[in-house]
Amino acid sequence: MKLSNKVESMQFSPIRRFNPIAQKAKDAGKKVYHLNIGQPDVETPECFMEAIRGYEPKVIAYAESQGLPVLQDAVIEYFKNYDMDVERGDMIITTGGSEALTMIFTALLDEGDEVLLAEPFYTNYHTFATAAGGKVVPITTKAEDGYHYAKREQIEPLITERTKAICCINPGNPTGTVLTKEEMQLIADIAEEHNLWIIADEVYREFAYDGRVAVSFGQIESAKDRVIIVDSVSKRHSACGARIGFLLSKNKEFMSNVMKIAQGRLCVSTVDQVGAAALFRLPLSYYDEVKAEYCGRRDVVYEELMKIPGVVCQKPGGSFYITAKLPVADVEDFLIFLLEEFEDNGETVMFAPAAGFYATEGLGKDEMRIAYVLNQADMRRAVELIRLGIEAYNAR
Ligand SMILES: Cc1ncc(COP(=O)(O)O)c(C=O)c1O
Repeated sequence: MKLSNKVESMQFSPIRRFNPIAQKAKDAGKKVYHLNIGQPDVETPECFMEAIRGYEPKVIAYAESQGLPVLQDAVIEYFKNYDMDVERGDMIITTGGSEALTMIFTALLDEGDEVLLAEPFYTNYHTFATAAGGKVVPITTKAEDGYHYAKREQIEPLITERTKAICCINPGNPTGTVLTKEEMQLIADIAEEHNLWIIADEVYREFAYDGRVAVSFGQIESAKDRVIIVDSVSKRHSACGARIGFLLSKNKEFMSNVMKIAQGRLCVSTVDQVGAAALFRLPLSYYDEVKAEYCGRRDVVYEELMKIPGVVCQKPGGSFYITAKLPVADVEDFLIFLLEEFEDNGETVMFAPAAGFYATEGLGKDEMRIAYVLNQADMRRAVELIRLGIEAYNAR
């Protein structure tokens, strides 16, 4: 019996792959600071559970495939903050942003089609695109340039007759890079000139720091018909386990065709949709508070990283990740050392090696991604452990 070439060419998540080694370290009594996964520690707003407690249907029935009106209407209200005029028919509620991406790639890609995406990128894009028969074509970026990619001369040479879309994770995962409105317009112009879709993954939308203003691709007037937005309550509302997201587009042909896929999978958990509706009705001040918390953590992480000789990274402008170059040749080997051999007062640390976030073989071997999802004191200690670990590793 044979498996598909598609599944065989997929990779295990670099974010979760080292968990068994971390578990062994924990079983042996070590405390492990987990900076490998974007699981926020910020509490899910109480309104989520309150809404669910008030939802008492006699039968937990299937919902419409496009989602519950109560959630769709809350999303419509939320986008008014962005001066975006959204209608129910412009959106399909999905099981997290992940399902939105799976559906989008299935709807857009034929075997061998290509999507452009800045590397390093959120690694599951490779899985989603491959599952749909497509291929991620990387726009390679560098730590030294703050992982910026919105440059015509970098993007255009990569466009072929198989290119269907350009994906923008904004703010970025794993780099934290934030596009300016001008850069978004440039991408929209390129997409228009080459007739490409824009897949705008905005699951970190409000998390833009230092006076940067969160802009949605839905606000770029000239791109209205080619933008498909991916959203989720996982990160901005600290509700990863709710598994609620959506895709949103003003393109009627896309929406009507992607609905076939949505109908095929019936619907999304109604209970979680009710909770998520309350999240989208939160006042904007909610995002300000959470943003201030993450911004403070970013500053701590950056400050501590800069104390390590040989580290290369620029202060990222958003999301809750920092990718940095470390003064070790093989970050994966270093991580295994941290988990298996190193400790300081019974403590060690875990991050995600960045090689798995690159599509180009050989890149990212000396880079790591940190998710700053712990409080400031823990983040400071965790980065200190990386520093002490590097000293011990390089002294062997
Ligand atoms: C950029 C990006 N897009 C999409 C997702 C998918 O998230 P979820 O399926 O939890 O909404 C993630 C999760 O980490 C992400 O970082």
